Amino acid sequence: EKGGYDYFMLKEIAEQPKAVADTLLGRIDAAGSLTLDEVRISASELREVDKVVIVACGTAFHAGLIAKYAIEHWTRIPCEVELASEFRYRDPILDQQTLVIAISQSGETMDTLMALRHAREQGARVLAICNTNGSTIPRESDAVLYTHAGPEVAVASTKAFLTQLVACYLVALYLGQVRGTKWGDEIHAVIRDLSQISGEVERVLETMEPVRALARSLAHKNTVLFLGRHVGYPVALEGALKLKELAYMHAEGFAAGELKHGPIALIEDDLPVVVVVPSPRGRSVLHDKIVSNIQEIRARGARTIVIAEEGDEAVVPYADHLIWIPATPTLLQPLVATVPLQVFACELATARGNEVDQPRNLAKSVTVE
Ligand code: F6R
Repeated sequence: EKGGYDYFMLKEIAEQPKAVADTLLGRIDAAGSLTLDEVRISASELREVDKVVIVACGTAFHAGLIAKYAIEHWTRIPCEVELASEFRYRDPILDQQTLVIAISQSGETMDTLMALRHAREQGARVLAICNTNGSTIPRESDAVLYTHAGPEVAVASTKAFLTQLVACYLVALYLGQVRGTKWGDEIHAVIRDLSQISGEVERVLETMEPVRALARSLAHKNTVLFLGRHVGYPVALEGALKLKELAYMHAEGFAAGELKHGPIALIEDDLPVVVVVPSPRGRSVLHDKIVSNIQEIRARGARTIVIAEEGDEAVVPYADHLIWIPATPTLLQPLVATVPLQVFACELATARGNEVDQPRNLAKSVTVE
C-alpha cells in the first residue's frame, strides 16, 4: 500500500526518519555505549581484525564508500571497498583476520553473494548488513546486522540506503569501542549525535518544496553533474545514480578535487552542477577548497546547485540555488545530504513522465551475475 502517496518511492523517502530511528533501536544502551551482541562475532575476534573489506553493488556500494571514511577514522583499521562484481575476479588478499562486510538491501544480489562466498572460502569472516530477514546473504554469512528500514518496494533504493549508512556507522563505532582508540570521546559524542539524527532527516524532508520546483525547471536538461569531497563524494555518486535510473538523464558524480584533472572541460553555459559542501566547522580546509571549485565552475557558466550546512555564508555568493541541510558531525553528513538528491531525482523523473517505482530495464533484486 502506498499510504496516500503517488509512488512507493515518495512513501519510502518519507519513511526515512523512522527507518533511521528503528535501525538504532536497542543498539545504544542507557550509558550511551553500543550493544551489538546480535553480531555474533566476539569482541576478542573483532580486536584481531587487521583489515576490513566491504563488498556491495549500486547504492549499497555507495554506503560502503562512506563506511570506509568512518571505519578508518574511528578504528585505524585499513578498509577497502570493492564492487562485488569485481571482487573475486582479481584474486583478493584475504585471511582469518580480514573482516568482510557485505551490504545488501535484498540479501539476494548474486554478485554480492558470490563475493562473500569467495571471501569465506579464503577464511575471512563475513558480516552482512541486510534489510531482508532470512535472505540468502545473511544466511551464508558468519554474522548479520539487520537494517530496519521495513520493506522497500520502489526499485530505486532510498530508505534502505540511509539505514545501511546507520548500520555502517554502528559497525565502525562499535569496532572503535571494543578496540579502544584515541577517539573514545569523539565516539561517545557521535553516538549521541546519531541518536538525534532521525529528527534532522525529518527537518530536511520538511524543506523539500524548492528542491521539487528546481527539479521541474530542469526537466528539459540532458546532463547534470554532481561534485563532492570526503564523504560528500559518495553522496555525489549516489545523487548521479538516482538521476540515471529514475530520470534517464546523463548524470555523473566526481570528487571535486578531480575537476581540474579533466571533468572541468565538461562545464558549459547553464549546465546544472550539484555540489555537496562539507561542513565549514569540521574539515574546514576541504570546505574552502570546494568553495573555490564552485567559483571556478560558475565562472565557466555552470548553474550551481549548492547543498550546504545551514549558516554557511561562504557559499551564498556563488550559489544559483541553495539547499540548506542541518549541521551534523562531518562523517554523518551523508544522512542528511542524500535526502534532497533523492527528492530531486524522483521529481525530475515525474516531470519527465517516467515510471518512478519501476524504471525501465531495472529489477528490484538482481539475482543473476
Ligand atoms: C539503486 C539500487 C541498486 C541496488 C543494487 C544492490 O537505487 O537500488 O543499485 O542498490 O542493485 O542491491 P542490494 O542492496 O539488494 O544488494
